[in-house]
Amino acid sequence: MLGLKGKVAICTGSGRKLGLGAAILRRLAAEGCDVVVSDLGTPDRLLASGDIGASDEMEAIAAELRGLGVRVLVIPCDVRSEASVQNLIGRTVAELGRLDILVNNAGVGYLLKPFIDATLEEWQLVLDVNLTGTFLCSKHAARHMRSAGQGGRIINIASQAAKTGFAHLAAYVSSKHGMVGFTRSSAIELGGDGITVNAVCPNHVTTGLGAKQNEYYAKVRGQTPEQFMAAMRQRIPLGRPGVPGDTAAAVAFLASDDARYITGEAMNVSGGEETH
Ligand SMILES: NC(=O)c1ccc[n+]([C@@H]2O[C@H](COP(=O)([O-])OP(=O)(O)OC[C@H]3O[C@@H](n4cnc5c(N)ncnc54)[C@H](O)[C@@H]3O)[C@@H](O)[C@H]2O)c1
Repeated sequence: MLGLKGKVAICTGSGRKLGLGAAILRRLAAEGCDVVVSDLGTPDRLLASGDIGASDEMEAIAAELRGLGVRVLVIPCDVRSEASVQNLIGRTVAELGRLDILVNNAGVGYLLKPFIDATLEEWQLVLDVNLTGTFLCSKHAARHMRSAGQGGRIINIASQAAKTGFAHLAAYVSSKHGMVGFTRSSAIELGGDGITVNAVCPNHVTTGLGAKQNEYYAKVRGQTPEQFMAAMRQRIPLGRPGVPGDTAAAVAFLASDDARYITGEAMNVSGGEETH
């Protein structure tokens, strides 16, 4: 339907079953894309094993996606490392023959504390994964797309936190605002190559990351998680928080030929909660 059959897509940070990345790949694979599941694979000093896409979880997602009849690769990648990113792009092109769509989804959003208590190391981790990782992956994907001469799509998973400030999430909010700036600048540079660059800005989705944020904010406000969620539903015009399929649908549209004249945008997927 969307003209995506036979395209090749990478989504970073897509190794968690309940995460937005896996949902994005499910949707792109259902549209006929060959896809690359990519995530850290092994825990990091600041990222616990329960918070990252581990190797066995990546393999399980890949097996599920192969059931949709498309080709699927699993390529571990730490988006903070340029060598790791070059390996991700290089292997994708070598083994799947092309690269049409890059989704920059890898993110860290659960270092929740007042900024005056955050360490430089924590601040740097969030900026490195969310913003520098987006730069590195975009750089190497765009170099390939430019030399292949067939255009392309780069889609950056930003956040409502790219438009609005949130207490105790200063590094995250700063990195997501930065992703929108990078989206706008890179869209200008790549327009002549037929490569569009857009950001998607979801509001709350109860993934692993989202659940941690709920627990934290409910505690800070002296609410139960249920009371916190009820208040959230009340302020969202469409009456519910996001689900992973909402973000995945926006990504599929932006990846499609129907979105060929849209670039440099930061598109809200927030049930009306975010309006600018
Ligand atoms: N859940 C929400 O409410 C929400 C809302 C708006 C935006 N987002 C954004 O959506 C994206 C996905 O988040 P999610 O909610 O699915 O959470 P998630 O924690 O399930 O996904 C984030 C993924 O990024 C991976 N990652 C972390 N560091 C990495 C690194 N150095 N290299 C490669 N991968 C790395 C993690 O392993 C994990 O799989 C993030 O960028 C997040 O900021 C989430």
